[in-house]
Amino acid sequence: MEEEARLLLGELGEPIDELKAAAVNVPSAGSGSLSGRRILLIIGGGIAAYKCLDLIRRLRERGARVRPVLTKAAEEFVTPLAVGALAGDKVFTELFSREDEHDVGHIRLSREADLIVVAPATADLMAKMANGLANDLASTVLLASDKPLLIAPAMNPKMWNHAATRRNRATLEKDGIRLVGPGTGEMAESGESGPGRMAEPLEIVAAVEELLDRNPKPLAGKTIVMTSGPTHEPIDPVRYIANRSSGKQGHAIAAALAQLGATVRLVSGPVTIPDPEGVSVVHVESAREMRDAVEQFLPADAAVMVAAVADWRTANESGEKLKKRPGEKAPALQMVENPDILAGVGHSKLRPSLVVGFAAETQDLLTNAREKLDKKGADWIVANDVSHATGVMGGDRNAVRIVTRSGVEEWPDMTKAEVAERLAAKISAALQTVEV
Ligand SMILES: Cc1cc2nc3c(=O)[nH]c(=O)nc-3n(C[C@H](O)[C@H](O)[C@H](O)COP(=O)(O)O)c2cc1C
Repeated sequence: MEEEARLLLGELGEPIDELKAAAVNVPSAGSGSLSGRRILLIIGGGIAAYKCLDLIRRLRERGARVRPVLTKAAEEFVTPLAVGALAGDKVFTELFSREDEHDVGHIRLSREADLIVVAPATADLMAKMANGLANDLASTVLLASDKPLLIAPAMNPKMWNHAATRRNRATLEKDGIRLVGPGTGEMAESGESGPGRMAEPLEIVAAVEELLDRNPKPLAGKTIVMTSGPTHEPIDPVRYIANRSSGKQGHAIAAALAQLGATVRLVSGPVTIPDPEGVSVVHVESAREMRDAVEQFLPADAAVMVAAVADWRTANESGEKLKKRPGEKAPALQMVENPDILAGVGHSKLRPSLVVGFAAETQDLLTNAREKLDKKGADWIVANDVSHATGVMGGDRNAVRIVTRSGVEEWPDMTKAEVAERLAAKISAALQTVEV
């Protein structure tokens, strides 16, 4: 089985181990812009079918469930094995399959989806759809469905420009079917140039997100300044003082706020994770650089200061690498206090109407958090206990308490993405009211 897969996938230049790893690394639904959305992906028989492997991965990365249907011709270009491995779901190919009809059935297949995507949409599939033909599983599902439909045409420029395809395209558009692409470029098989290249997987994902986006954007028009990650305080050009913050929680919050429509300006300390989607990021190293960047982003509607900013930096940063010399004592590091970025924002003349700070504590969590409310001029302190070895710094889960002047909300242990979504919703609700 694996050998068969290796051979088949080898034709696509995708080693099986890589594909398996790709499939395993795809996070399950739960977070992401397409979280919980069910997509029926119909793959047509064109060269561009190979791009669907990446498309499936991209959709699943965003939390979507992808159920694939392959036409007979599609099986000539990608194998059900590869498609199923990436989708993590059963692949449907046959209309007249007793087993499949018993399990799911072509009618249910078409109904149990929030959106149907046809990619690549061949000239043939477009013709069938425009004329209501239903002579295989893909076309029957399409005719039996009342779900929104997105198609990504891909074909030779002559096929695309053919009068019949033009008529079919016009019919499909009149029927309310949404097209993404095709783009213009060189054809993989013939080297011909012109319109007919399938849209890239990320363009298709963007169209899917747009089509499924029934969420209102409650934070549209609001600007939120954020910090995330650690700071690095230099000792000399090669050494620095740092902390264990990974930036995962702050970055997840930035993404969740952007998802709700906010314009998020994120100032990130040195982290190894990618920039959150839809967020403009300024990368800094030290606390002083972070403060300067934050100040530039004021005024804003809210500030969410998640970064673990170093309290101190070295007073005597050396311009040259400190040398170890035989017989000499170890250098003494003198420390001075760093600017308090949260307090700076909380007491600023340009203070946002909602200021949220984070407090990572190892003892007296609530007492320290309550004290910080006033000292820092914050409205909420999100307090987390980082005393355990398996604590939140660097991990994927977090158990936080939201300390406000009116009390303490205790949130259960959850993933950082879940904390981010819940906090973003709370911020959104707070910004809708005048008093926060
Ligand atoms: C090598 C090769 C590449 C093809 N590429 C495309 C293509 O990109 N677009 C297309 O519409 N048809 C393409 N075809 C033709 C389709 O495979 C053919 O029309 C088939 O019947 C489509 O079936 P389906 O629509 O059920 O998937 C190609 C055929 C071959 C042999």
